[in-house]
Amino acid sequence: MKLVINQRINRMRKLLFFMLLPVAFLYSCQQDGQAPAEAAAADKPLPTEPHRPAYHFTPEANWMNDPNGMVFYEGEYHLFFQYYPDSTVWGPMHWGHAVSKDLVHWEELPIALYPDSLGYVFSGSAVVDWKNTSGFGKNGQPPLVAIFTYHDMAAEKAGRTDYQSQAIAYSNDRGRTWTKYSGNPVLPNPGIKDIRDPKVIWDADRNRWVMVLAVGDHVSFYQSPDLKQWTFLSDFGKDKGAHGGVWECPDLFPMTIAGTNDVRWVLLVSLNPGGPNGGSATQYFVGFFDGEKFALDYDFTRRLDAGEAVWIDWGRDNYAGVTWSDVPPQDGRRLFIGWMSNWDYATVTPTQRWRSAMTVPRELVLQRTLQGLRLFTSPAKELEKMRRQQYEWKDVRVEGELNMGEKLTFSPTVAEIVLEGEWPVDGAMDFGFEWSNAKGQKYRLGYDPVRRIAYSDRTRSGKVDFDPDFAAGRHTAMGAMKGNAIQWRIYIDRASCELFANEGASCMTNVFFPEEDFSQLRFYAQGGAINIKRMTVYELRQ
Ligand code: FRU
Repeated sequence: MKLVINQRINRMRKLLFFMLLPVAFLYSCQQDGQAPAEAAAADKPLPTEPHRPAYHFTPEANWMNDPNGMVFYEGEYHLFFQYYPDSTVWGPMHWGHAVSKDLVHWEELPIALYPDSLGYVFSGSAVVDWKNTSGFGKNGQPPLVAIFTYHDMAAEKAGRTDYQSQAIAYSNDRGRTWTKYSGNPVLPNPGIKDIRDPKVIWDADRNRWVMVLAVGDHVSFYQSPDLKQWTFLSDFGKDKGAHGGVWECPDLFPMTIAGTNDVRWVLLVSLNPGGPNGGSATQYFVGFFDGEKFALDYDFTRRLDAGEAVWIDWGRDNYAGVTWSDVPPQDGRRLFIGWMSNWDYATVTPTQRWRSAMTVPRELVLQRTLQGLRLFTSPAKELEKMRRQQYEWKDVRVEGELNMGEKLTFSPTVAEIVLEGEWPVDGAMDFGFEWSNAKGQKYRLGYDPVRRIAYSDRTRSGKVDFDPDFAAGRHTAMGAMKGNAIQWRIYIDRASCELFANEGASCMTNVFFPEEDFSQLRFYAQGGAINIKRMTVYELRQ
């Protein structure tokens, strides 16, 4: 009898437990500062080195610049990068290498390509040669083929102008080891000083490869049946877009306009200097590519003045970004990563054992807008896996300031913020976020509704004197508010802040170097109010 009663009690307990489970779940979701169930004990501890980001890719040691050879193969995203393993400043270029299965966790692998007698290994791309057009495949497996620029430093120093040429290398072991092609260079220098950074794509309609190269003040297209013999097709851009500096690191890819079946081609072109806030930046063009020539779409240009450029990112610190090759069609995303620095000061930023980080991986989407066809950028959805504790504000009117930091049980400097709000009729004349530390150093990401610009203010952000221009004034971005609606997503990671505003219509990436991590966070609204409909701060962990 006792046993039966016990069993009943147990059953009731179980029943009660399962009945209460959803309630407990809801309660835990609403509780501020609760960790979601999977907040893993395996989380990487926060880095202790000053300025080392917690979730952005950095090389363990030494110098890095452009992302290179981004290709997806057998479940891995490859990220190669311009790398100098002997110093924290630029030098003889190698291709460093990292892989990720999820765009969140990166594993750095041994160096993939070393400089040799033909020169330093400059930027370029990589493809999966599915049809083995190159003949480099082995045992029925397609090779990975890297296409890069050789930069012959000795020739440059000797005053020659033909020191850049294009070359290839291949791998039969998922990118772990590489063999340079014995017939290099595959595209010798045609007598032009700046000709580099090949991006190669497969043209399925014509069964051949297309290469886009940065050539001084324009790009050139070439084609090849086998990645070894290249034939010139056409030039684009001498009289288009921004020309404040030399063109570098192009990319070319087709995109379906969101919500339609129409395809347009997007051409990314980095240039240095000449960016919207000075120094290095990346512009883009939208048009048609018929396998030979690129032509602009009127729907891209119609609201632009002659020579005006459209930027993928307004910030000072997103350069040389390109997109991943061979992302499976069932995924279908156009994934992008950029180098989170600027040639204006890249070699003197105050980090110790390494220099510079990549941006977060981002997804690009082509949208039809009132301004014409535009790229929208958002953080890759995988990044949401990093969310841990969170705190949410709902329906708050801020006039003056909201001390956000005092509510958080986690650091506001390795975090994501999602803000949905409205600029009311009695709207603030200046509003935004301010991170600060006990030393009085601060970084502001704000909005000026009168000029309709978002701004990044790192003038008092800590170490700034390594470069005279680093802290010279605010940096600004257009298009960060749609009417009166504020829709912002922000990623902050100790030494960088990335704003994706207005569904990604406008983005702005900037780095900074506080002497100690920012520990405070407040939202300010001066000269009026801001209605926050919903604002969530997430702690992020890798
Ligand atoms: C862009 C760039 C490329 C070049 C590489 C050299 O940042 O100047 O044009 O290939 O860096 O490291």
